[in-house]
Amino acid sequence: MASKGLFRTKSIEQSIRDTEEPEHALKKSLSALDLTVFGVGVIIGTGIFVLTGKVAKENAGPGVSLAFVVAGVVCALAALCYAEFASTVPVAGSAYTFSYASLGELPAWIIGWDLVLEFALGTAVVAVGWSGYVRSLLDNAGWHLPEALSGRDGAHGFGFDILAAALVLVLTGILVLGMKLSARVTSVVVAIKVTVVLIVIIAGAFFINSDNYSPFIPKAQAQSAGGDLKAPLIQLMSGYAPTNFGVMGIFTAASVVFFAFIGFDIVATAAEETKNPQRDMPRGILGSLLICTLLYVAVSIVVTGMQHYTKLSVDAPLADAFKATGHPFFAGIISFGAAVGLTTVCMILLLGQTRVFFAMSRDGLLPRFFSHVHPRFRTPHRPTILLGVIIAIVAGFTSLSELADLVNIGTLFAFVVVAVGVVILRHTRPDLPRAFRTPLVPWVPALAVAASLWLMLNLPAETWIRFAVWMAIGVVIYFVYGRRHSRVEEPAPRTTR
Ligand code: ALA
Repeated sequence: MASKGLFRTKSIEQSIRDTEEPEHALKKSLSALDLTVFGVGVIIGTGIFVLTGKVAKENAGPGVSLAFVVAGVVCALAALCYAEFASTVPVAGSAYTFSYASLGELPAWIIGWDLVLEFALGTAVVAVGWSGYVRSLLDNAGWHLPEALSGRDGAHGFGFDILAAALVLVLTGILVLGMKLSARVTSVVVAIKVTVVLIVIIAGAFFINSDNYSPFIPKAQAQSAGGDLKAPLIQLMSGYAPTNFGVMGIFTAASVVFFAFIGFDIVATAAEETKNPQRDMPRGILGSLLICTLLYVAVSIVVTGMQHYTKLSVDAPLADAFKATGHPFFAGIISFGAAVGLTTVCMILLLGQTRVFFAMSRDGLLPRFFSHVHPRFRTPHRPTILLGVIIAIVAGFTSLSELADLVNIGTLFAFVVVAVGVVILRHTRPDLPRAFRTPLVPWVPALAVAASLWLMLNLPAETWIRFAVWMAIGVVIYFVYGRRHSRVEEPAPRTTR
């Protein structure tokens, strides 16, 4: 009986019916183009603007472009599964909703809790990256923030990143005011960001020195820094001394630059707000993923051609490659575009987070208080404000590199659950209309699972430990609260409060 409870599923019909209760319904206003813009808006961010340099320098050399291809392929496989789920279950909440309908309540809770990790910490990471670019622009203009207000990384003793925290709070306000406003702001910013990326590719192509490509895949070297826990889990498991570079280095790099692709899955969280999810959702997800993969590969080839990988900067590699080749004007434009572009990334991650929280609360797994939409703005203002404030505090007090790995492991785990869910739902509900069908089931989902697990294994052992602790806390909360308050077995029709 108990185990039946843990794996009770919420029917697709019930999921859709819930979205129709007027007090708990979101506005349907997004098209396929909005979704693609939305996707590109969140996908291009700290990953390409910041992590490219670090990963080329420490793990892969010019081979970082291959790491982007590897990570892109893993995401494409997962995207094919996400697209089927999002077009079959068009309600807010992404992987959380999908797993509720296919795998059961406990797995759904686990995935929802996991998405909190992905989106909330992702928002914090990007806000801190944004603040770094803004500070560098302010420095150029001769304004210097006090060290204690510049974040943890540079501070001795107390450090609070006031810019990162302020950004999160302002974006929270915009989200409370409504989806349409944020979509409009998003499209302008996305245009600026894509223009800057194209400037890097086109202008940078003229400054490539082909000598910088040799060696394209540097020879493997023993890892020096950090203890064993910093090494990729797969290298510890296989018993070899952990190395950087070489072919394994490309996979390590892929597991880090994977962060650059996070976001396409968030497009799926907006299914309930999409006019025609059956048609537009797959187009939005796959379209934005394809555009970003092409841009990333091009950017990384250009940047590692402009500067030898050993000399790339870790903080602002795109802008600094232009400085190094004697073109500070381009460097300024790129820094400005990065600062503007990271704003949307942060906003959409925050949005995805509030939607998952909203869906979990609507199901009673979190207090129902959070699932009332604002009477005028029709947005879930309560979870938006609560999470906005918490994330602002986290962003103010954290440094980013380790958090990014934690975000990656959480996201890859979600991919595994979604891919398994596609296969299960094909068996349990073959009758459901599917506007988009994942090709070659079960092979594509199986490959998606294997590829995601492979990248997870390439993350450091310490990231696995942190992830396990986070998930254990989630399971405790489920048994203490969610399980008893779940609305799944209430008789229909229900009344709203
Ligand atoms: N993909 C997003 C970024 O790179 C999260 O910042």
